[in-house]
Amino acid sequence: MQNLRTQWFWFFLFCCISRTSTSLDSIAPNQSISDGETLISHEKTFELGFFSPGSSKSRYLGIWYYNINPRTMVWVANREAPLNTTSGVLKLSDQGLVLVNGTNNIVWSSNMSTTAETENTIAQLLDSGNLVVKDGNSEHEHYLWQSFDHPCDTLLPGMKLGWNLEKGEELFLSSWKSADDPSHGEYSFKIDPRGCPQAVLWKGTNLSNRFGPWNGLYFSGSLIDSQSPGVKVDFVLNKKEIYYQFQVLNKSLSYRFWVTPNRNALVSLWESQISDWLILYSQPSFPCEYYGRCGANSICNAGNPRCTCLDGFFRHMNSSKDCVRTIRLTCNKDRFRKYTGMVLPDTSSSWYNKNMVLEECAEMCLQNCSCTAYANLDISGGGSGCLLWYHDLIDLRHYPQAQGGQDIYIRYSDSELDHSQKNGLSKSKIASIVTGSTMFVVSMILGLVIWLWKRKVEMEEMKKQLYQSHHNYNLRKEEPDLPAFDLPVIAKATDNFSDTNKLGEGGFGPVYKGTLIGGQDIAVKRLSNNSGQGLKEFKNEVALIAKLQHRNLVKLHGYCIQEEEKMLIYEYMPNMSLDYFIFDEIRTKLLDWSKRFHIIGGIARGLVYLHEDSRLRVIHRDLKTSNILLDENMNPKISDFGLARTLWGDQVDANTNKIAGTYGYMPPEYAVHGHFSMKSDVFSFGVMVLEIVSGKKNRDFSDPNHCLNLLGHAWRLWTEGRPTNLMDAFLGERCTSSEVIRCIHVGLLCVQQRPNDRPDMSAVVLMLNGEKSLPQPKAPGFYNGRDKADLFGPFSNNDASLTVLEAR
Ligand SMILES: *[C@@H]1O[C@H](CO)[C@@H](O)[C@H](O)[C@H]1NC(C)=O
Ligand SMILES: *[C@@H]1O[C@H](CO)[C@@H](O)[C@H](O)[C@H]1NC(C)=O
Ligand SMILES: *[C@@H]1O[C@H](CO)[C@@H](O)[C@H](O)[C@H]1NC(C)=O
Ligand SMILES: *[C@@H]1O[C@H](CO)[C@@H](O)[C@H](O)[C@H]1NC(C)=O
Ligand SMILES: *[C@@H]1O[C@H](CO)[C@@H](O)[C@H](O)[C@H]1NC(C)=O
Ligand SMILES: *[C@@H]1O[C@H](CO)[C@@H](O)[C@H](O)[C@H]1NC(C)=O
Ligand SMILES: *[C@@H]1O[C@H](CO)[C@@H](O)[C@H](O)[C@H]1NC(C)=O
Ligand SMILES: *[C@@H]1O[C@H](CO)[C@@H](O)[C@H](O)[C@H]1NC(C)=O
Repeated sequence: MQNLRTQWFWFFLFCCISRTSTSLDSIAPNQSISDGETLISHEKTFELGFFSPGSSKSRYLGIWYYNINPRTMVWVANREAPLNTTSGVLKLSDQGLVLVNGTNNIVWSSNMSTTAETENTIAQLLDSGNLVVKDGNSEHEHYLWQSFDHPCDTLLPGMKLGWNLEKGEELFLSSWKSADDPSHGEYSFKIDPRGCPQAVLWKGTNLSNRFGPWNGLYFSGSLIDSQSPGVKVDFVLNKKEIYYQFQVLNKSLSYRFWVTPNRNALVSLWESQISDWLILYSQPSFPCEYYGRCGANSICNAGNPRCTCLDGFFRHMNSSKDCVRTIRLTCNKDRFRKYTGMVLPDTSSSWYNKNMVLEECAEMCLQNCSCTAYANLDISGGGSGCLLWYHDLIDLRHYPQAQGGQDIYIRYSDSELDHSQKNGLSKSKIASIVTGSTMFVVSMILGLVIWLWKRKVEMEEMKKQLYQSHHNYNLRKEEPDLPAFDLPVIAKATDNFSDTNKLGEGGFGPVYKGTLIGGQDIAVKRLSNNSGQGLKEFKNEVALIAKLQHRNLVKLHGYCIQEEEKMLIYEYMPNMSLDYFIFDEIRTKLLDWSKRFHIIGGIARGLVYLHEDSRLRVIHRDLKTSNILLDENMNPKISDFGLARTLWGDQVDANTNKIAGTYGYMPPEYAVHGHFSMKSDVFSFGVMVLEIVSGKKNRDFSDPNHCLNLLGHAWRLWTEGRPTNLMDAFLGERCTSSEVIRCIHVGLLCVQQRPNDRPDMSAVVLMLNGEKSLPQPKAPGFYNGRDKADLFGPFSNNDASLTVLEAR
């Protein structure tokens, strides 16, 4: 009896052992797995069966890690079709794998294109976590179907993420809706094949954050790199497929990459000692990583999350985010500046080539006027390949911990680089890199403390300022002619003259946007300190100029003289300057002919006021399209008037030993002999009229057949009797051609060689209105492109900025 019991005991024990040790890892045709039963992979890494996630009662068929507790799902079959009962059964039929419910209705199937017919077909759970349907006798790893081709929210080692371009099939991860619901959630992680392929996390149809293009070692905007211990990463990019894949060399390590229901894509490693998943990398974790946090052409700095315009760019007035160039690209006279430690910007419309070297890449970029930047495609092994951007640079980031970072070369006009080399301040800021992640954490904490402290100081300062400006206001009310501002008030308004507030660089110094404490927007011109004039004279002069008021002049609100600083405070003009529109292929379309005609008339009236009607006779001396600002209704307003006068004294119709102006707008007598008069402004006005009509820049214009500048070209068309050919192609039919011809005619009269031949501004206004007959123009001054180059020799490259040189 005793023996029998022992026998039974051993028998049961044997059954238990044999049940676990011979647990199934596969099913054959007509075999099935019902709720409660599982398949376990050969080496006991993964298990397949029915489960209910979280607090849900619904049943799903899925795969999880065999010996990881809490249960961690890596794949779910019937994500969108939950079972209400525990009567689900998984079968291998001639249609492949099918999941049926209690009444034998198919809830989910592997929907194979080739049906599994033979007796040898089996469905097997592999040690990689892949559920496959295959020919059980075949030695080849040929699968009729595999779950790795139908990813859910988890990328396991050996799984591909990306595109099979031949079949047009995409493999991507999509998050669960919530921890209780494995159906498709909002987030998906994909390889975006447009332009140069990059890894991105989407929220619905919106881009949430970019991991960026593969740079040979890691995704540019992430740090999941090939340096993780025991991990081997592949990124395959060819005509047939684009995919990302990782392998784990040490089989006892469980790594997974997954997309959470709430916006994170993360890499984690199972740590058995703490029985939890260790998060090795997660994105987004910094404010900078959210796509579109900063606008075009600005850098987001992960260590100090704020948006800064790239050097040489300033914040576009119409946008709270985008930055635009201070000095436009010239196309043929551009160079590059290198930025290091960068995450490459959005590559969805980039071009790439794997075989080119960096020098060829630069060359290629220079050949296309719309190319804005280039970089190496692959930074491993010293760098190779070429990546080009053709648009604004979006989502540029700088990571303090990016080890060595990545270089990108951004295109600038020659004159911008010349200018900014003198003050390489922000460049060094960018170059500073904090290495090591511990150091990074420390610096983040430190940064927070400093930030809190700074904020406190700022608040106190603001209180002080409020008091001060109030005080000053009361004081100054008695002197209405002299609106003066205190330096701290202006510094506060312009965020301490920060680069982000910089609107541009004018002839007499940089211009900043500011907001006074009351909320009023202002433009602050910080004058370069090169005038020998005394402070008192300067004050008087500014006070006089402040009295010049006309609807076509920018209004001067006041000035600030303190601590060696001289500043003029103007009304803020939201629509930038005229050059910003007429010389831009796209924006030029915003100015139809009636608007242009309105602008020409407005400038003319402003000049009549300056030259003749005002108490002072003011010669502008630096009239150009970038000095014509536009208000919200596109009314033109002349800026910088009277500045030449205040800075260089009151010289009307005289010879001067200094020449101020911009090539392309200067009349011959001024550029060559330093002789200026009101007729010099008339010449510049004429150049502007021809530029407004043609949409072309006088200085940059070149006619392949003739060595003529814009003036010469206009003159030639005029003498050949076809002046309307000068018109901006876009204006086309939609304009009154008699008005266009009259404008060209007036323009040519204004740019005549001899000052005495040019009409004065009041005559110009009458001519434009058709109230005065027009004489035939004579040849313009400076119409031969070659002459111009000879005349100015080495200075002829200097384009937009003001030039001061000694007259011969
Ligand atoms: C499962 O239950 C839900 C509600 O409890 C019901 O709406 C649904 O139709 C049921 N599905 C099936 C397949 O019975
Ligand atoms: C099985 O599914 C069918 C169709 O979806 C449904 O009508 C039926 O009630 C389900 N049976 C069970 C037991 O859930
Ligand atoms: C099965 O696959 C075919 C094409 O491969 C597709 O048209 C069909 O919608 C799929 N059926 C299901 C239930 O997914
Ligand atoms: C599966 O079962 C069906 C009917 O029960 C039978 O006709 C078929 O031959 C079986 N297939 C295999 C491969 O055993
Ligand atoms: C996508 O972005 C638009 C515009 O910002 C927003 O209205 C919409 O709610 C976003 N969609 C999602 C799914 O977040
Ligand atoms: C694999 O990883 C385990 C756990 O970290 C470690 O104990 C083991 O030594 C590793 N094996 C190899 C070959 O590196
Ligand atoms: C700038 O904004 C104003 C008003 O908000 C608008 O009329 C104008 O067209 C905008 N200009 C550009 C270039 O977007
Ligand atoms: C410059 O590149 C753009 C974008 O790839 C392309 O559309 C354009 O044709 C190119 N222009 C020239 C002159 O090659």
